[in-house]
Amino acid sequence: MKQAINYADLVRSDAVHGSVYTNPDIYLDELDRIYRQTWIYIAHESEVPNVGDFKRASLGNQPVILVRDKTGKVQVLFNRCRHRAATVCQDSCGNASKFRCEYHGWVYDLDGKLTGIPYEDGYERIDKSQFSLTRPVQVDSYRGFVFAIMAEPVETLAESLGEPTMRQIDYFCDLSPEGEILVQAGAAKLAYQGSWKLQMENSIDGYHANFTHQSYFKMITRLSGRRPDTFDRDSAVATRDLGCGNTFVDYRPHNIAPGRSEPRLSALKRTTWGKKYYADMVAAHGLERAEDVIVTAGTHMSVFPNLVVLGQQVRTIRPIAHDKTEVDLAPTLLKGVPDELNTQRIRQFESFYSPHGGGIHDDIEMFNRVQQGVACTMEPWLIFQRGLHREQISAEGLRSGHVSDEVPQRAMWQHWLKLMQSKR
Ligand code: FES
Ligand SMILES: [Fe+2]
Repeated sequence: MKQAINYADLVRSDAVHGSVYTNPDIYLDELDRIYRQTWIYIAHESEVPNVGDFKRASLGNQPVILVRDKTGKVQVLFNRCRHRAATVCQDSCGNASKFRCEYHGWVYDLDGKLTGIPYEDGYERIDKSQFSLTRPVQVDSYRGFVFAIMAEPVETLAESLGEPTMRQIDYFCDLSPEGEILVQAGAAKLAYQGSWKLQMENSIDGYHANFTHQSYFKMITRLSGRRPDTFDRDSAVATRDLGCGNTFVDYRPHNIAPGRSEPRLSALKRTTWGKKYYADMVAAHGLERAEDVIVTAGTHMSVFPNLVVLGQQVRTIRPIAHDKTEVDLAPTLLKGVPDELNTQRIRQFESFYSPHGGGIHDDIEMFNRVQQGVACTMEPWLIFQRGLHREQISAEGLRSGHVSDEVPQRAMWQHWLKLMQSKR
């Protein structure tokens, strides 16, 4: 029988018990207390631009369909036939006029309404309006990022994201003069034998880069003649808690430092396409905001529990089991910019994150190694105390530290603990 777990025994201010990665009962509690009761990222509206466009996605471990219905509204529908539960949508994405379950042929409209039952006269009485595809309790979006929740929400999506997180999403989207990103360039897909939390911890980990990705950085140094110094001991890059379990690696102090922002703007203005982009950005956002956004160059953050917005990409994390996770890494395009800029973004993404890229495989290998390592239980605690003594606290009570400090991981784990203790 499943034992009640005392979560306060598993997360300390500076350490986490290894069983949070290995205990299947904890995973089941996570599906309930995190993936059912909080807002979960589904996909981006730009992935279904036209009526009938759909994309298969997940809400925790449950399959859903993101689809644009005949009225142009984006719907999130559970991918489960109301007859005997077969999935009604098999393709990862595409365009359809309806969803037809291939088991016994029930047909659903794009908004989930049941419109057809083969040999309907075999039912003594059946009210089709009672058998629409089911949906989450609420769906909402911010700047095209669609979230859904399976339980009656205790807070709105905006409250759940929080102001600091929404401002970072703004930085990401405002790189487009039209203020829109397009998730339409495919995705790199990866899977590993480990907990979903390993990818969340790692996405905002500034400590590992110089070591896990040593070979990639050596290659960059060889090709460019300059050694990347972003993660060095004297780096100005900061780690931050954004509140609500969301966390952030803040490159802004590094990017705006004397000798860094000006060259970035000048380089842009040296090309014809760069000049046009700069002018369009200034026309759209005003000079100050445009330069601020260009120099800041997007964001690098995690939105608990399953979204990462990093550089050019949107990363979606899918928990499959306590020790199995799938991740989609989608490079994004900017709407209304010269092709050269979008090409540059795709090439940057490919260089590190694509299957033939130089970096992402290093991380996956580390997730597999951690999951193997936590099987050793003589000393079960993982240490997250780096930089605890030098954390800064803002007026809003949010913590920050050096790029290599474990501020984001501590913030994530404290939020995890809060959710795991709040049984509803
Ligand atoms: S399970 Fe879908 S029609 Fe039977
Ligand atoms: Fe990494």
